[in-house]
Amino acid sequence: MNLPDVHLEVQLGRLCLANPIMVASGTFGYAREMAGLVDLARLGAILPKTITQEPRAGNPPPRTVETTGGMLNSIGLDNDGVELFVEKHMPYLAGLGTAIIVSIAGKGYEEYVRMAARLEGVSGVAALELNVSCPNVSGGVDFGTDPALCEKVVSGVRAACSLPVLAKLTPNVTNIVPVAQAAESGGADAISLINTCLGMAIDWKRRRPRLGNVLGGLSGPAVKPIALRAVYQVAQGTGIPVVGIGGIASVDDVMEFLVAGATAVQIGTANFYDPTVSIRILDALPAALKMLDAASVADVVGKLNTDAPA
Ligand SMILES: Cc1cc2nc3c(=O)[nH]c(=O)nc-3n(C[C@H](O)[C@H](O)[C@H](O)COP(=O)(O)O)c2cc1C
Repeated sequence: MNLPDVHLEVQLGRLCLANPIMVASGTFGYAREMAGLVDLARLGAILPKTITQEPRAGNPPPRTVETTGGMLNSIGLDNDGVELFVEKHMPYLAGLGTAIIVSIAGKGYEEYVRMAARLEGVSGVAALELNVSCPNVSGGVDFGTDPALCEKVVSGVRAACSLPVLAKLTPNVTNIVPVAQAAESGGADAISLINTCLGMAIDWKRRRPRLGNVLGGLSGPAVKPIALRAVYQVAQGTGIPVVGIGGIASVDDVMEFLVAGATAVQIGTANFYDPTVSIRILDALPAALKMLDAASVADVVGKLNTDAPA
């Protein structure tokens, strides 16, 4: 429920969202699966599973394993490819009454640009999120670890289409700030962080890795402190909005990200064990904002007081 005097709208560069609560790519399917469980129109935005130029079968199973405080996945961008996405999934997504931010990953610069040009003008696409951070596809991650490549791909996409562009970065770098600054220089409307942290799990009795791909991406509550740190650093180091992602499962988590410097958030792993979590958080958000005497989300963004640690 919206308390009348708390404004939930947020602005991510050229993209305006009705509220800051989004669902993260790869954790909400193509939304159809969730329709019976969640009032999809209420979400600030939906990010469907990342699409690639060509269909991808993904990595060998097992592709997911539970870990302490989180999960590892090595899905490997299993998806139908851009053409089938536009034909099969976009018409449904376009009718949901919420912003659809399409996540794309290219094998190289040309593919990012080609997909961006293809998605321009497709009905219902509100923005693009460039997944330059998937740890499960060799090559794809390079764009998120090399500032020059990151700037090139963001500016190439900006030149190829007029849609707002979010750059989703990987935490698997020594310093995330130069990569975020490069995305900003390339013209990104906002920076999304974080994607998963590269990890692994082992069954020592069988001396086997637990994932078919050996390595995978860690997500869930275990990564929240890393994500908060990344959001804080990037919010300090850039002048564009930040979208916080990583281990969010409650309104308290959301408030922590907002105060750290995020303008909006995405909820990922929590959808797997509670598909209604995003709506429950949205319902609780106005009261949480009021506890800080905020009349809008923007009133609390980046308002962390580092002078006097709790
Ligand atoms: C099973 C699974 C699949 C994912 N697939 C994608 C994907 O296709 N594209 C993407 O950008 N991120 C993908 N992610 C990463 C999430 O969107 C998110 O950035 C990450 O999991 C951290 O958030 P969380 O801790 O709330 O899950 C995936 C995560 C999981 C757990």
